[in-house]
Amino acid sequence: MILVVNFKTYEQSIGERGLKLAKTLEGITKNAIVCPQMPDLRYIANHVDIPVYAQHIDSIKPGSHTGWILPEAIKESGCEGTLINHSEHTLSINEIKERVERCRDIGLKSMVCVPDIETEERVVDMEPDFIAIEPPELIGGNVSVATAKPELIEKAVEVSRGIPLLCGAGINSAEDIKIAKELGAIGVLVASAIVKSKNPKSVIESFAEYL
Ligand code: G3P
Repeated sequence: MILVVNFKTYEQSIGERGLKLAKTLEGITKNAIVCPQMPDLRYIANHVDIPVYAQHIDSIKPGSHTGWILPEAIKESGCEGTLINHSEHTLSINEIKERVERCRDIGLKSMVCVPDIETEERVVDMEPDFIAIEPPELIGGNVSVATAKPELIEKAVEVSRGIPLLCGAGINSAEDIKIAKELGAIGVLVASAIVKSKNPKSVIESFAEYL
């Protein structure tokens, strides 16, 4: 199982605090991907050996696009991949497709987030490297997708046509990871349970039992 830790834009994951968290994660498991805050990507990629993913890219080409995020620059910053269409940064189907193709063209891994099975079915045709299903209403809460919607994970694995499937939203215990694994997910996305914890190390250590 892969543990993807999304730093989002939490106060606790800015700059040096983000690096400390990434190092803590790396020290406990190598089966991890870290998604730091965008301004910290190169800094963190330079200091850890686990894969670093961006939280978002745009599909622009090098040129005059002030304020947009160039996939080539993400790759050159040391990132192995990127999230696409996170529930907190949603895109149209066409915009997702453009980004998956840009990733493929330049050798960046694509992890496309989907809120439901209908969206997943459309994304599968794009053949991203990973799909992550996250019911938006459970994100940031205490009830996990694994306990509240196990059938969603099972269905998502079934329609993924062999594309590695992860799940996320509300994941907060080792038991959640165990359930996700048993249902066929190859990993979980976690944010608040780790980033906002007073003791991220002990949370990650407890999760590591099922990684
Ligand atoms: O990308 C992972 C994320 O959306 C899940 O957030 O806080 O429910 O673990 P959280």
